[in-house]
Amino acid sequence: MATATSAVQGVESTYALAAQEFDVRRVREDFPILGQMVHGKPLVYLDNAATSQKPLAVIEAERRFYLEDCANIHRGVHLLSERATKAYEEVRVKIQQLLNAPEAKQIVFVRGTTEAINLVVSSYARRNLQPGDEVVITAMEHHANIVPWQMLREEKGIALRIAPINDRGELVFEEFEKLLGPRTRFVSVTHVSNVLGTINPVREMVQAAHRLNIPVLVDGAQAAPHMKIDVQQLECDFYAFSSHKVFGPTGVGALYGKLRLLESMPPYQGGGDMISSVSFEKTTYNTVPYKFEAGTPNIAATIGLGAAIDYVNSLGIENLARHEHELLVYATEKLSQIPGVRIIGTAREKASVVSFVLDGVHPHDIGTVLDQEGIAVRTGHHCAQPLMERFKVPATARASLAFYNTKEEIDTLVEAIEKAKQIFG
Ligand SMILES: Cc1ncc(COP(=O)(O)O)c(C=O)c1O
Repeated sequence: MATATSAVQGVESTYALAAQEFDVRRVREDFPILGQMVHGKPLVYLDNAATSQKPLAVIEAERRFYLEDCANIHRGVHLLSERATKAYEEVRVKIQQLLNAPEAKQIVFVRGTTEAINLVVSSYARRNLQPGDEVVITAMEHHANIVPWQMLREEKGIALRIAPINDRGELVFEEFEKLLGPRTRFVSVTHVSNVLGTINPVREMVQAAHRLNIPVLVDGAQAAPHMKIDVQQLECDFYAFSSHKVFGPTGVGALYGKLRLLESMPPYQGGGDMISSVSFEKTTYNTVPYKFEAGTPNIAATIGLGAAIDYVNSLGIENLARHEHELLVYATEKLSQIPGVRIIGTAREKASVVSFVLDGVHPHDIGTVLDQEGIAVRTGHHCAQPLMERFKVPATARASLAFYNTKEEIDTLVEAIEKAKQIFG
């Protein structure tokens, strides 16, 4: 998908090959949850941007941890603790490889993307930004990349600058560049929009920011499930993603950071594991990344995340991306043909997210009708209220596709939208 030139053009020949490589029927067997009935209809799960489903390998990995290895990490000399620590730290290396980070110690475990961004704001930005300094974000940010900056604005008197988007939902690059100036101290941008599916040109954005020595955080929550991420190629200073959107368990995620920055940053939370030594007079902190990892983490979920990474690697993210892009093209065509449907987000570089509104029908009513047909979509503002204002809609319905979805499921979606039109039209 990252290499796609258009959401809707010129894909047929490429996908004839992909169809041979990627057997979606087989893959779906790895996700037993998808086989269930909802309101008497086969489940059609199209809410993957909210959270994705987990393959058996992930569920088994968590189960095995609790059945065989359950112990706290980094502390015990006993065998179970050693096994748990080894399994946990191996996942750090898997994430390093997933993101192509230079060193495993550049991977900080967090609860998810939200916590990763809060960590950078609370630690890096709180220390380095002064009143009047500016932070640039875009008009398509998730609340997770807006609100922490607003909290810092209240505390420190910084200013937030918002890079605009066009009617297709693409960043207006020249406007973004114009916002970068002598007062800009940080850029924080989503890689892929959770509402529009837009893939931002983050490498070019990072390069523009770096010309002025401005560090950049990339919110990869919606990119990591769909494309190969290479933090060295992107040159970004921080990269964040959540396990539960990359087919792993909830409650864990990762923050990548450049070593120089991580080492310069104060701890984010205090407690066990993040210290080197503690006395009532003076405490010294542990090294990177442990100084950011206070307290007992979600060990089981982290081990499950490792299994999710192995699973995706076994299928090949490029194969998944090709299949998803084929679905995106198909869904875009089919939904565009329904009179009254307007797709919100028609960027030329797009991930498999289709947000839409239907004339005269509130998105919540669409969601309710679809649910009765067994279809799970998200309706609402998708934690991106400023973006709703930009497109002058109160909410959208959003079908977000994963590699285990099928064209037949999109046909079912189209039929159900037609039904909603009849009921409310
Ligand atoms: C673009 C984006 N950023 C951040 C988040 C927050 O992720 P989490 O809730 O896993 O912390 C989401 C979740 O939907 C998202 O889509």
